[in-house]
Amino acid sequence: MDALPEYSMMVGEVRWRCLGFGDEGVPYRMAQNFPMLLEAARAARRRAYAPYSRFQVGAALLMDGVEFTGTNVENASYGGTLCAERSAVSAAVSSGRRSLELIAVSTDASELPEIGMRAPCGLCRQVISEFATPGLLVLLDGGTAIDGTAQGDVIPFDLLLPWRFRLKGERLG
Ligand code: THU
Repeated sequence: MDALPEYSMMVGEVRWRCLGFGDEGVPYRMAQNFPMLLEAARAARRRAYAPYSRFQVGAALLMDGVEFTGTNVENASYGGTLCAERSAVSAAVSSGRRSLELIAVSTDASELPEIGMRAPCGLCRQVISEFATPGLLVLLDGGTAIDGTAQGDVIPFDLLLPWRFRLKGERLG
C-alpha cells in the first residue's frame, strides 16, 4: 500500500496520528469524543476475559450518541470466542441502537507500531460495517510515548474495509 498522508494533533492530553485524511482532516465535532472513548476502551480492556490467548482487547463505541463497551470473551472451545468489537456492537444493537458513529479499540499490542496488531480483525470489520455511518472513524490505542504522552491512531473505517460485502437492497433498519 502507498504511504498514507498523516498528521498529528492533540485532543486533550492525547496525541493522535491521523492517517489517510484529505485536506479537511478529522472533523472537530468527532474529535471532541476521542479522549473519553479511548479511556473507555482502555477500561473495558481491563475487564477482558482472555484466559487462553492472554491477549486482552477492549472496545468502546458511540451509537446514536450513546457509549457502549465490550471486551473479548474467550471460550474453552476457542471457536466460541467473541471479539471485543463485536461484543460492543452487540451491546449497542441489543439496546436498540443502529447508527455507529465512532469506535475505539485498545489491545495488549498498543505499544507496538504495527497497526495490524491493534486494528479490528476482518470479521469485526464486516460486523462494524453493518452499522457504520458515513465517515465512521476508528481509533486505535497507541499506548504511551517515551515522553509519557498517551497516543493513538485515527483511521477512516473505509480504509480498513473498502468494498464491504452487502446484500442488494440492504437498508439500515
Ligand atoms: N480479538 C479481539 O477481541 N478483537 C480483534 O479484532 C482481534 C482479536 C481477540 C480475540 C481473542 O480473544 C484474542 O483477541 C486473540 O486473538
